[in-house]
Amino acid sequence: MDFRLTEEQLAVQEAARDFAQTELLPGVIERDEEQKFPAEQIKKMGELGFLGMMVDPKYSGGGMDTVSYVLAMEEISKVDASASVVMSVNNSLVCWGLEKYGTEEQKQKYLHKLATGEIIGAFCLSEPEAGSDATMQRTTAVDYGDYYLLNGTKNWITNGSTATVYLVIAQTYPEKRHKGINAFIVERDTPGFVVGKKENKLGIRGSDTHSLMFTDVKVPKENHIGEDGFGFKFAMSVLNGGRIGIAAQALGIASGAYELSVKYAKERKAFGVEIAKHQAIQFKLADMATNIEAARLLCLQAASDKDAGRDYAKSGAMAKLFSSKVAMDTTVEAVQVHGGYGFVKEYHVERLMRDAKITQIYEGTSEIQKIVISRELLK
Ligand code: CAA
Ligand code: FAD
Repeated sequence: MDFRLTEEQLAVQEAARDFAQTELLPGVIERDEEQKFPAEQIKKMGELGFLGMMVDPKYSGGGMDTVSYVLAMEEISKVDASASVVMSVNNSLVCWGLEKYGTEEQKQKYLHKLATGEIIGAFCLSEPEAGSDATMQRTTAVDYGDYYLLNGTKNWITNGSTATVYLVIAQTYPEKRHKGINAFIVERDTPGFVVGKKENKLGIRGSDTHSLMFTDVKVPKENHIGEDGFGFKFAMSVLNGGRIGIAAQALGIASGAYELSVKYAKERKAFGVEIAKHQAIQFKLADMATNIEAARLLCLQAASDKDAGRDYAKSGAMAKLFSSKVAMDTTVEAVQVHGGYGFVKEYHVERLMRDAKITQIYEGTSEIQKIVISRELLK
């Protein structure tokens, strides 16, 4: 196995690092505090090609591989995980789902604009009573011939009020259970579609999370994705790749906290020496670095499985399970390395600690990743 990155991959990594440091770092604390969506920054990310990285250039995308996407996600997430979740949903759920399973007409109509960030997408699977248990969809999509009528509620939708295009999963034939589920493209201004309240969150507070209500929302047949009854498989397939993005987000949160800890440990003095000279601090840094390296290798393994056309459900779930734990453990220790300064906002690590937690919950909780991994192991 060759772990060396290509010139192109290194260039993407550097571009993402520069963008994060120059455009995302200023104001990140205020955006977190005020729950402010990074609208200007997301617009620039679109212009720089970070919102449709893996999309074929014929649909205005970057035509890059998943390894490059992981590298960019890590760099952006080191600084601002609220911006990187927008990037993750748009790239690996919405753009990838449409490119892989959409019709040519759907791609022409939506993918160009999504890939350039002219518009943003959202992915709507979760419901008040269908989170981990995602087959229990209560949102219905009744087939009326040339259109479907959608009714129901979606919960926790990232980009809920900022998106223009929503990929919505709904049940058409309840008796068929998950095989009766369909996936649709719903445009923001469709009558009967209402964006509910914004969630006041522990972390990724700059991201825009809402419930969505659908009352007799008429969706034209041409906005149906894939074969009849393919909706649940569509969601699972899309999430297999999405989990690589969230794993990379967790990796970035961990490596951001680690880098801040190394810097701080070399500056802060206690008992007459820099705290980095105390072995207790050195060991914390050693554990952080080792875990982060292992998480990075799992992320790159999953990405290269996807790029090589190998199955990546298991490696993606492993990367997410492990990286999200590393994000949690590393950020808690980063606060400890910073002492009291770690507990206040200016030093960033308390925010990284709050942001880390979501990576163990969304796109399948850690318990769900273990279900996915063990089913793959035992099948
Ligand atoms: N890849 C491909 N197919 C899969 C799959 C996977 N990872 N997991 C399940 N499937 C398929 C199964 O093969 C099965 O198909 P067949 O009937 O044709 O064999 C079908 O889906 C149903 O699977 P199960 O019988 O295993 O269903 P289950 O109810 O026992 O378990 C589950 C399914 C894996 C737990 C699934 O419900 C799940 O992944 N839940 C978590 C949901 C989730 O991740 N939500 C994330 C929402 S998006 C989000 O969170 C975005 C964000 O924050 C930014
Ligand atoms: P539950 O499913 O009720 O789980 C509660 C607990 O029980 C968890 O610890 C879980 O692991 C455990 N549990 C459940 N079933 C089992 C089992 N079989 N075995 C062992 N343990 C189990 N969803 C979208 O569709 N689109 C989005 O854009 C999106 N963005 C999100 C953004 C944020 C900030 C948040 C908080 C959530 C978002 N989600 C989104 C929803 C997210 O995917 C769900 O919250 C997640 O899948 C868990 O579902 P739940 O909250 O209903 O928890």
